[in-house]
Order: sequence, then structure tokens, then C-alpha cells
Amino acid sequence: MSIAEEDFKAALARWASGVTVVTAAHDGVLHGMTASSFTSVSLSPPLISICLDRGTRTLPLIESSGHFAVNVLGAEQAAVSNHFASSRTESDRLGGQTFSMGTLGCPLLAGALAHLQCKVFAIYPGGDHVIVLGEVATSQLGEGDPLLYFNGAYRALRAP
Ligand SMILES: Cc1cc2nc3c(=O)[nH]c(=O)nc-3n(C[C@H](O)[C@H](O)[C@H](O)COP(=O)(O)O)c2cc1C
Repeated sequence: MSIAEEDFKAALARWASGVTVVTAAHDGVLHGMTASSFTSVSLSPPLISICLDRGTRTLPLIESSGHFAVNVLGAEQAAVSNHFASSRTESDRLGGQTFSMGTLGCPLLAGALAHLQCKVFAIYPGGDHVIVLGEVATSQLGEGDPLLYFNGAYRALRAP
């Protein structure tokens, strides 16, 4: 017995998450994509995971370079999330964005709540996605509230 796709999606939409932009670079090509599948995995070694669709343009850059950065978006960065998720901006994702280059060669977006620079630790198959484990080499912190995503829309923190 297999769950219907719409039921699966509807259940997953009930899971609230933060929003990140995963960035990578290889051979002078800079790119990044919005990803909410970020999670912490291990303290020792310090591992995080992201799940990427096998068809994304970001994945081959991560595989080739062996590095990526996770930019945790702040509450004011919904437009940044949309930019890095849009097919209209695929060929020039970093164009018009303010960023610096991290020590591992990945773009670090201005205004992010945190940057985690990662070395690829392992890549596992996960259906039509892959599960990328990253060993965090260094982190930088920003300030502010997080951008949240729930039930197909951006949300803000609210005290219970
Ligand atoms: C809030 C949000 C979260 C997303 N999370 C993921 C994710 O975790 N993994 C993924 O593969 N795509 C995710 N996407 C879709 C990608 O950002 C989108 O397909 C993007 O265009 C891929 O870029 P690329 O193919 O140029 O690398 C998300 C989109 C949005 C708006």
C-alpha cells in the first residue's frame, strides 16, 4: 500500500521549517538554491544534512567542488528565498545579490542569520533526491528572527 502523492504532500506541509539557501561554486560558476530540508545530524563530527532533488543545478557543483555553504535566511529575506527557488533566475542566481566568498570558495549571502561552510562528508541516495551530509568547517552568525515556511507560505515567529 502506498500513500497518494497529494496526501503525502499535505502531511509534509504541516511540518514547519526554517529556510536556507545552499550555495556552491566550481570552475568559476557560482550558484545557489533555496532549501528547507536542512537539519542537524551529528555533534562529533559536526554534521548537517540537506536533501536535494537529483535534477538541481546546485548538486553537480557540490559534487565537483566537494564543498557547499548553508545560508540560514532571516525574517526579511522572503524575496531572497523566492529568487533562489525561481526557474526565471536559474542562469544568474548570484546576480544582483550581495555576498562575499567564504574560505571554502562558496558564496555567503549578506543578511543571513548564519553561514555554515561545509565539506561534503557523504552523499546517499534518497529516491528522487539525494541526502548530502556536510561536515561543518566554520560558521558565522548574524542577528534577527528567522524566516519560517509552513503550509506553502512564509511565516514569522510569534510567541505562544
Ligand atoms: C521554501 C522552499 C524550500 C525548498 N526546499 C528545497 C529542498 O530542500 N530541496 C530541493 O531539492 N529543492 C527545494 N526547493 C526548490 C528549489 O529551491 C528549486 O527547485 C530551485 O530552483 C533549484 O535550483 P537549481 O536547480 O538551479 O539548483 C525549495 C523551494 C522553496 C521555495
